[in-house]
Amino acid sequence: MIVLVTGCRSGFGLHTAVLLAREGHVVYAGLRDLSTRAELDRACAGLAVTPVQLDVTDPEQRLGVMQQILGQHGRIDALVNNAGVALGGFWEEVSEAEVRRVFEVNVFGVWALTQQVLPVMRAQGSGHIVQVSSASGRIALPGLGVYAGSKFALEGMSEALRHEVGPLGIQVTLVEPGPYRTDMTTGPNRTLAAAAARPDSPYAANHARAEALFDRISRSMGEPQDVAHRIVRILATRHPRLRHPMGLSANVRLFATWLLPFALWERLVRALTAPR
Ligand SMILES: NC(=O)c1ccc[n+]([C@@H]2O[C@H](COP(=O)([O-])OP(=O)(O)OC[C@H]3O[C@@H](n4cnc5c(N)ncnc54)[C@H](OP(=O)(O)O)[C@@H]3O)[C@@H](O)[C@H]2O)c1
Repeated sequence: MIVLVTGCRSGFGLHTAVLLAREGHVVYAGLRDLSTRAELDRACAGLAVTPVQLDVTDPEQRLGVMQQILGQHGRIDALVNNAGVALGGFWEEVSEAEVRRVFEVNVFGVWALTQQVLPVMRAQGSGHIVQVSSASGRIALPGLGVYAGSKFALEGMSEALRHEVGPLGIQVTLVEPGPYRTDMTTGPNRTLAAAAARPDSPYAANHARAEALFDRISRSMGEPQDVAHRIVRILATRHPRLRHPMGLSANVRLFATWLLPFALWERLVRALTAPR
């Protein structure tokens, strides 16, 4: 398969690019900034991985990468929309620029790149689009509303897309991990809204409680290789289902929200997250 994976400097993207190449696929690995390719180069030594400059919010870069892939192979079999950013902060304190940034990457970038591959896959009569969503695309928790909003949008758009292009032979799937150990959760891409980081934030006590809860969760976080393995398996499946929740935390939350009336779920979330 000829596969384009976005956001390959670190985390799920890096591991997915490596695993796909080890399985014998030809991988184009998008990097927001090509000069950060050292870890990818190390991990992919000897494998059929081509690092490409691809900030998913940049229309020229999106076009350039597609032209490169089509110029070299005349086809693209799979797109893994993995690049993403997170943002912590309550509704009242996130700035417009911060909200727009999250939606530019997690929604508009994904929409635009996907739109670019669709005519090619439609002409081929085959293709697979894997959207790396999140458990936060199904269940929204306090302090993560903007991130959840972007992933809810991705879920809705992708569900509709699946109906639209399934009859054309194109698969659309959503991967929904809970917390995994990557740069987004425990590294430099863990992002808090500027106002939320201030000690005089009206939600400072909420953030402190959330941090304590997060520290406990961090100890049992999954490893990014597991998500990469799942993506590779999904791509190898002929008729994969739409949604693929991943990890204990995501599955427990989904089960709880399926089982409990919302009023009870709300009390549970409040008990776990509101300042005591
Ligand atoms: N880790 C989790 O617990 C978790 C759970 C559920 C869902 N997810 C989702 O999984 C995906 C991958 O995240 P991760 O956990 O692997 O975190 P990560 O290690 O921070 O990886 C995110 C990648 O996206 C890249 N990126 C950010 N903005 C970009 C842009 N404009 N254009 C191209 N690439 C861009 C980052 O590059 P730079 O570092 O160079 O900016 C980075 O390589 C995201 O969509 C995230 O929402 C993560």
